[in-house]
Amino acid sequence: MRRPLVAGNWKMNGSKESIKALLDGIKAGMGDVKEAEVAVCVPAIYIAEVESQLTGSPIMWGAQNLSNEASGAFTGEISAAMINDFNCAYVAVGHSERRTLFGEDDAMVAKKFAAARASGLKPIFCIGETLEEREQGITNDVVARQIDAVVELEGIEALADSVVAYEPVWAIGTGKTASPEQAQEVHAFIRQRIAEKSADVAEKVQILYGGSMNAGNAAELLSMADIDGGLIGGASLKAEDFLTICRAAG
Ligand code: PGA
Repeated sequence: MRRPLVAGNWKMNGSKESIKALLDGIKAGMGDVKEAEVAVCVPAIYIAEVESQLTGSPIMWGAQNLSNEASGAFTGEISAAMINDFNCAYVAVGHSERRTLFGEDDAMVAKKFAAARASGLKPIFCIGETLEEREQGITNDVVARQIDAVVELEGIEALADSVVAYEPVWAIGTGKTASPEQAQEVHAFIRQRIAEKSADVAEKVQILYGGSMNAGNAAELLSMADIDGGLIGGASLKAEDFLTICRAAG
């Protein structure tokens, strides 16, 4: 049985003050979250702060990006070992904003995925098609290509202790969610693609949906057979909304 995971992606939002209030709110409501694993992926500069606030709570924390390099002359970059130094469980890899705004291609994403795993971090490996790609009818080809880039470098077994997040780019931050059926169709395809190489890994891997998931639509999306949780942007910045999604999972 796969345990559901709800992960917040705060993106470039928050301040010391707002983060404290948000985490206090989430921690206070965790008593009702019975089934789901819960995590927050936070801006790197606040990871230490978040670690001190969440240590001893059931909530895990992580980063939103990492360098593909291990150490050295890479000004401004943050390595997997550094992220691990602050007891992060997760790091998002290949988020569509990284791919489109910061030029990360499949090869770079695969290297980052490898760097995360080498350090003992669980990648939340993000994939998904643009609106144009969906309209061209090539959604499956796009997600297959994105998955294959990682599998070719790291092997299928690497996905067993990773998380895949299917995030249609057209649904991210737009308020336009994929319908439960649309999302389920792609999730099933992703699991099938993985099963072609390993049925065991396909059975184990958590596949999250992301893209305007919120307190109102989460239950329906999360009820689908191959949707094992959510990667939540906007709605993860409000404690009550995030908790509603966490309660809906599982
Ligand atoms: P959103 O973002 O929930 O605000 O659409 C999701 C994500 O980018 O991970």
